[in-house]
Amino acid sequence: MKPRIGVLTSGGDCPGLNAVLRGVVLAAEKHGWEVVGFRDGFEGLLPPGDYLVLDHKGTNGIMALGGTIIGTTNRGHFVAKIGGGDRAVVPAEVIERAREVLTELGVKALIIVGGDGSMTTALQLQEAGIDCIGVPKTIDNDLEATAMTFGFDSAVAMVMDALDRLHTTATSHKRVMVVEVMGRHAGWIALHGGIAGGADIILIPEIPFDYDKIAAAIKVRDAAGNLGSLVVVAEGARARDGQQVKRDMEGGEFRLGGIGDLVAREIAKRTGKETRLCVLGHLQRGGAPTTLDRILGTRFGVKAVQLANEGHFGSMVSYQNYQVQHVPIADAVNRLRLVPPNGEMVETARDVDISFGD
Ligand code: F6P
Repeated sequence: MKPRIGVLTSGGDCPGLNAVLRGVVLAAEKHGWEVVGFRDGFEGLLPPGDYLVLDHKGTNGIMALGGTIIGTTNRGHFVAKIGGGDRAVVPAEVIERAREVLTELGVKALIIVGGDGSMTTALQLQEAGIDCIGVPKTIDNDLEATAMTFGFDSAVAMVMDALDRLHTTATSHKRVMVVEVMGRHAGWIALHGGIAGGADIILIPEIPFDYDKIAAAIKVRDAAGNLGSLVVVAEGARARDGQQVKRDMEGGEFRLGGIGDLVAREIAKRTGKETRLCVLGHLQRGGAPTTLDRILGTRFGVKAVQLANEGHFGSMVSYQNYQVQHVPIADAVNRLRLVPPNGEMVETARDVDISFGD
């Protein structure tokens, strides 16, 4: 029997996950492994084990698909993160049950494709003696340990497309269109999507805003003869004297969202202009991955198998200086990469007349 390697996708889905799975399967077959895909994230590790054997036939044509063919969840028995970085512990008994399943199936190592929370769980499994390799994933692009994650480019492309569409309706009606986007505590999606889509105002968590400054920027645009304005609001953005708008607690994290509504109301009140809100929500996570995400996902999947071959367990694939490398998972968890408020991207945006409402 061939040695077996396990793979699972955990946390929120994103475009490019199937490219990773295909990369893992094709590279693993080439290097003599059989791949076991566990369904619905870590939950598939629980007895009796919910899995399927993945081979090149089963991964044929999946690269163009959004989501993940083996399912995912950001809840369940293995959640190892509670809110802003506080670490919860996966019960030892749950880890032991997973170990039994892996032993029973002859799985020597696990490739875990997930975000910061999933890497926290991966670290605990590794510390308990289950060999793991991490593959970072998030549309938020907010992991310090990797310069880029797949999924981000697809989310940005979606925001750009939405802004292109909203531009024509905003100018036709001389309205302000407020667009709320995802990104959790980081403003990367708003910043990149906003620049690419020609936004006039971008509000991000890293630069708290002032409603009067937003209103003033819109009035200046009106006075200059502009017909409409596009305002992109990251879900984690907040007013200088306000708080982030939270929905509820789910999967060990607060779900953010709702700030767009407040911003739209305040703009209407302070400018007297017709203002409409569009919340892009999970549209940013769905659909086919972009070229970049297919290639990055493939490279990450292949690298994970190479790391397994070389015995680099406890490490996470990482993109640095245009190369796919690896870092210890222990160094990667709980380290967020936020938008530098005075960085080059923000300066570029300001120089193309984008206001941050500050
Ligand atoms: O981390 C990815 C992300 O899409 C965030 O941008 C967003 O805040 C969150 O997940 C939404 O999570 P859920 O799918 O649980 O609503």
